[in-house]
Amino acid sequence: MAVIIAPSVLAADINHLGDQVQEVVAAGADWIHVDVMDGSFVPNISFGPNIVKAVRRVTSLPIDVHLMIDYPERHLKAFADAGTNHITVHYETCPHIHRTLQSIRELGMAPGIVINPGTPVGTLRELTHDFEKVLIMTVNPGFGGQAFIPSMLDKIRRTRALLQETGSSAQIQVDGGIDKDTIKACFQAGATNFVVGTAIFKHENGIPAGIQVLRDALENVS
Ligand code: DX5
Ligand code: ZN
Repeated sequence: MAVIIAPSVLAADINHLGDQVQEVVAAGADWIHVDVMDGSFVPNISFGPNIVKAVRRVTSLPIDVHLMIDYPERHLKAFADAGTNHITVHYETCPHIHRTLQSIRELGMAPGIVINPGTPVGTLRELTHDFEKVLIMTVNPGFGGQAFIPSMLDKIRRTRALLQETGSSAQIQVDGGIDKDTIKACFQAGATNFVVGTAIFKHENGIPAGIQVLRDALENVS
């Protein structure tokens, strides 16, 4: 499965969002990740559909929205209309998760499910053919720049095993504390899709170097 690097604009300089998006695109990003936070499900408040519209105006790359919000089903159409391609909902916010994933497909977006560090892999078992991507949070959601939680590596391995056991072609995405060291460990555990904020947008040598370092880290890794 091809490796996807998805810079998270949560870490971008909001005063120059358009330029920063164009810079990651030019540097070889595959997707653009937009972290949506409501100040209720997670402590922070971040972006709404308008930011997706703004990003949509400056790139044709897939936009990958991560809904860290309560009642996500209320907002799916607004994000679809804003130009979202992939949208991921938290298992913890969806009492009718199977129906919510179906609603995402009906709106023409690729459905994803995300589970917090404390949510068991087993919650995915009945759903592995209803999503195209499962995001294993490698930090507790709400803020960028947090430390990677090492125990999530075993969780990624168990998620990979579950997807194989159920014959699912879904990809595993990780988000939080991904850098040149943790990306390698997560790839070896079975992840192929990497959300990266700080390690790209705040890289000491600039955005292109931030992405290149991640690509290099995966060179010759089996
Ligand atoms: C957490 C956010 C972050 C962000 C990436 O709610 O989802 O994980 O995307 O953060 P860093 O800066 O750790 O790459
Ligand atoms: Zn995210």
